Amino acid sequence: MTQPTIESILQEKRLFHPPAEFSQAAQIRSLEEYQNLYDQAKANPEQFWAELAEQELHWFQKWDTVLDWQPPFAQWFVGGKLNISYNCLDRHLTTWRKNKAALIWEGEPGDSRTLTYAQLHREVCQFANALKQLGVKTGDRVAIYMPMIPEAAIAMLACARIGAAHTVVFGGFSAEALKDRLVDAEVKVVVTADGGWRKDVVVPLKAQVDKALANGGAPNVRHVLVVRRTAQEVEMEQDRDRWWHELQQEVSVDCPAEPMDSEAMLFILYTSGTTGKPKGVVHTTGGYNLFTHITTKWIFDLKDTDVYWCTADVGWITGHSYIVYGPLSNGATTVMYEGAPRPSNPGCFWDVIEKYGVNVFYTAPTAIRAFIKMGEEIPKARNLSSLRLLGTVGEPINPEAWMWYHRVIGGERCPIVDTWWQTETGGIMISALPGAIPTKPGSATLPFPGIMAQVVDLEGSPVAANAGGYLSIQHPWPGMMRTVYGDPERFRKSYWEHIPPRDGRYVYFAGDGARCDQDGYFWVMGRIDDVINVAGHRLGTMEIESALVSHPAVAEAAVVGKPDEVKGQEVVAFVTLEGTHSASEDLKKELKQHVGQEIGAIARPGEIRFADALPKTRSGKIMRRLLRTLASGEAVSGDTSTLEDLGVLETLRKEG
Ligand code: WTA
Repeated sequence: MTQPTIESILQEKRLFHPPAEFSQAAQIRSLEEYQNLYDQAKANPEQFWAELAEQELHWFQKWDTVLDWQPPFAQWFVGGKLNISYNCLDRHLTTWRKNKAALIWEGEPGDSRTLTYAQLHREVCQFANALKQLGVKTGDRVAIYMPMIPEAAIAMLACARIGAAHTVVFGGFSAEALKDRLVDAEVKVVVTADGGWRKDVVVPLKAQVDKALANGGAPNVRHVLVVRRTAQEVEMEQDRDRWWHELQQEVSVDCPAEPMDSEAMLFILYTSGTTGKPKGVVHTTGGYNLFTHITTKWIFDLKDTDVYWCTADVGWITGHSYIVYGPLSNGATTVMYEGAPRPSNPGCFWDVIEKYGVNVFYTAPTAIRAFIKMGEEIPKARNLSSLRLLGTVGEPINPEAWMWYHRVIGGERCPIVDTWWQTETGGIMISALPGAIPTKPGSATLPFPGIMAQVVDLEGSPVAANAGGYLSIQHPWPGMMRTVYGDPERFRKSYWEHIPPRDGRYVYFAGDGARCDQDGYFWVMGRIDDVINVAGHRLGTMEIESALVSHPAVAEAAVVGKPDEVKGQEVVAFVTLEGTHSASEDLKKELKQHVGQEIGAIARPGEIRFADALPKTRSGKIMRRLLRTLASGEAVSGDTSTLEDLGVLETLRKEG
């Protein structure tokens, strides 16, 4: 790990107060109100969360113990029974919301669908019965490898309804990456589609599933359920593969939600870490339901008349927590969009906002930077006056992008919530509450009530205001991940040991560098481990290195991130070749493609540099800091005295 520095941080002085009209109607209306909540939660976190759990969720049976903390393993609302699909659906059916739009879906080719709570409930019940008919039981794992269509959300909720854990695999991952996840999670059933639309082309999802399952690739998989979306030819293997629409006709619409233990596994979501293969982050039912519910309610400030749109993919945690579970648990109207901005329609996001009168819009800084490049005429040609609140997530937002978002999209009237969180945290940890907390462009502002965030040094001591350090969480919270699937030791090592526990006090380390300013505002600087963030996607350098090394021409590879204007970072790979192979442009292309096949297009290096050797310390460690400097084209300065062979530097520099 490298020590974070604050050299590059722009000293940002602007302060934006919530507009008075916004505050008056907000869930949390003033800084004092926030501060009271925060202090209350800090003084007695268990009481704080328990009161909210009682008020905000439906429980079949109340818990006995609010928090059982055996560091670093936490259990919340132990003994309680609930079902998140009940909280997202059934409880709204006895109110006027029964016929409210739950899900508004817009397909890339322009087709659309709206499901009311009653309709969504019906489809979820049917699919839950379909899963049962195929032998899926409580505790089984079901993979969802889908385009952004309503059936993805329906499948998630159906799994939750019967107590099967889902593992959603982003549709952009390759067959190889899918296979790894199917094997690791011992998946029994895969839900997919014939294809999905992405940037004007059809992505052949079912064919990827077939590839992943070929030659006994994932031996636990018994069935593949296929949604007809794009109508292209797919092969259906008898007995194994079934069409979704056919199954739905065979089953009843009646499927009561299974009362689940609060700590029953709700889902596994794979994410990249510093070492080895992606980790299966485990989230459980009660704590996750509460945390996503309350963060959605207070941060997105949802009103019953609001149309809310989060542009993430359900393949990522943002889609889980803030397209599906958080909004539906609140009885909100959530928009799901299949497409992405593309040359044939760069204004598609603004069209969706205009068409549905979106009020609350949540996207990523990389998207905003791409829009800046396309020019402000595009959004300006649409009516965006319905918007009242904007959000961002996924990476630090540079103040320039923040200001553009504020001015061009928000018409200078919408507060912006910059939300810091992770797959592991389940929900938003640091963010403004839009009616209460003044914002500073580039800062995620203050921790959510009940979240004890602190910037510390490697010994775990708090650092001074404005000094760089490690972002840590000092107390368990309901939405936290419970373990790494099948590997509790990895959970302990990855998150709880970088900052050594003191007097039995375990502190969660997020992998991010940050500083806290004189007003207590957090400025997240980004990953300080070997994880890179490309267009808001988290990639482990080790994973890409393994993919490269699996190519017969490659002897050794080292991957680093290089700053990129739009994507935030770009993947640069330094590669040495096996004896008989020689460097060429064709080989560069081939290697990029190879990574695409091994992991997915999102991990393809933007740049490959060949070298005779990689710079290493005398003890044989690759000097990544040096490679990062080289990749970004800066002059190498500082201490290179531990470098094994200085000649290496010369060749690497020339290659670039
Ligand atoms: C980064 C996405 C700065 C951070 C929800 C974190 C951010 C990683 C922000 C988690 C933000 C996310 N400001 N950095 N508002 N939001 N990050 O697991 O480095 O895909 O550790 O979860 O994204 O990425 P993940």
